[in-house]
Amino acid sequence: LHASLTVDPAFRVADVNPRTFGSFVEHMGRCVYTGIYEPGHPQADEDGLRRDVLELVRELGVTTVRYPGGNFVSGFRWEDSVGPVADRPTRLDLAWHSTETNAFGLHEFATWARKAGVEPMMALNLGTRGVQEALDLLEYANHPGGTTWSDQRIKNGAQDPFGIRMWCLGNEMDGPWQTGHKTAAEYGRLAAETGRAMRMIDPDLELVACGSSSSSMPTFGAWEATVLEEAYDQVDYISCHAYYEELDGDLGSFLASAVDMDGFVESVVATADHIRAKLRRKKRINLSFDEWNVWYLSRFENQEKPTDWPVAPRVIEDEYNVADAVVVGGLLISLLRHSDRVTAACLAQLVNVIAPIRSEPGGPSWRQTTFHPFAQAARHARGAVLRVEPVAPVYETARFGEVPVLDAVATHVSEAEGADELTVFAVNRHQTEDVELALDLRAFPGYAPVEHSVLADPDLRATNTVHDPERIRPRGADTGAVTDGRLTVSLPPVSWNVVRLR
Ligand code: AHR
Repeated sequence: LHASLTVDPAFRVADVNPRTFGSFVEHMGRCVYTGIYEPGHPQADEDGLRRDVLELVRELGVTTVRYPGGNFVSGFRWEDSVGPVADRPTRLDLAWHSTETNAFGLHEFATWARKAGVEPMMALNLGTRGVQEALDLLEYANHPGGTTWSDQRIKNGAQDPFGIRMWCLGNEMDGPWQTGHKTAAEYGRLAAETGRAMRMIDPDLELVACGSSSSSMPTFGAWEATVLEEAYDQVDYISCHAYYEELDGDLGSFLASAVDMDGFVESVVATADHIRAKLRRKKRINLSFDEWNVWYLSRFENQEKPTDWPVAPRVIEDEYNVADAVVVGGLLISLLRHSDRVTAACLAQLVNVIAPIRSEPGGPSWRQTTFHPFAQAARHARGAVLRVEPVAPVYETARFGEVPVLDAVATHVSEAEGADELTVFAVNRHQTEDVELALDLRAFPGYAPVEHSVLADPDLRATNTVHDPERIRPRGADTGAVTDGRLTVSLPPVSWNVVRLR
């Protein structure tokens, strides 16, 4: 198969937003306990944080981490998670039918975030709680001192404020499964009043209103419109959540998941801009795609919830294969392509629970297949995002009709910005055929390829396991040479590709 695309600095979408490469740590399963935190583990540091996991988090290139949920946050009392660990209460976590010991809490998270070099993004409980508790937490976390809450933080060991800039006003409040679930009008009012009050403390906070928990929710679209009519002036972002899986053996549709993400983003942008027009506002609401990933949700939904309220049980520890990694790569391309409006995103989640990083209690940690496209995009997507307008053959899918076999986006960081590097990210979705991709580089005279990295394998179901953790990783491929401003690279079937030029 043959495809082509054109890379030109004139086709600029927006700058790459560092927050596109966020992730998510929820008190769920083993994401926190025996994931990022495991006192007694041979690799644990003086704070009980796993050094091996921290190293992988840094290698992954994660920028922002949303915390502490997720569904968990809608029953969370943040005060439980601070102060001497021995005094912290143990609670039932209704979201995941688990027991929460609160051994890891706000201070431990702030310490972990500092060591991981990530920006914390805090989610508030607007399920069972409201405006006052949000204000208390904000004062505890961010006020320098001299008030009861801020002095309590200092007493608990943190002299300096945590300085959290980005706050999620609740989580998935449209979902009937959510503790304290609300109608759009109820939630919109609460989000507006919470945001208004928080901004009385700090007008520069960045606030995220809950959008729909998926585009298949019956209230999708109407929910965003109602919430934004109520809270437009008080928020900066509306959230999007989407999880993809291969259903009924339909690999062709699954590989085209980015088509769904494109449509989701464009619908939410249209809805937000409709409310902007209706309210006659200048400001635009951007999208925080703060939960996205491959998740074999249908397998999970058939599982019974534990009845014995375990502590940190194994929950949705999905093992990702080659096809999953290529889908994750496609979703990253979709997010980058929409960098003008998707200005934050979180791969959900970070460790063990539907995660790019896995760890065993007392044992090793390793990279899942999906780790690689994320890490490569986080490292190499810099400067400006460029549309590349691919021309490619199509294939028929059950869910999306005709879909191009190739999807791609480029980024360019100029010499003036210190690097002078052009990177093309591309996926071949065809299941059996190579794609010979011709890159038109005439707008970048003098650029030569430095690397073509490929993640692919004849066995699309191959995974990385504790016994074979390096089975799937990107490998170098032939780069060829630029002739008359054109470079041709070969993309194997079901592959994620990074072509770098300088
Ligand atoms: O990431 C797992 C769960 O998925 C989150 O807790 C929830 O927000 C979403 O439904």
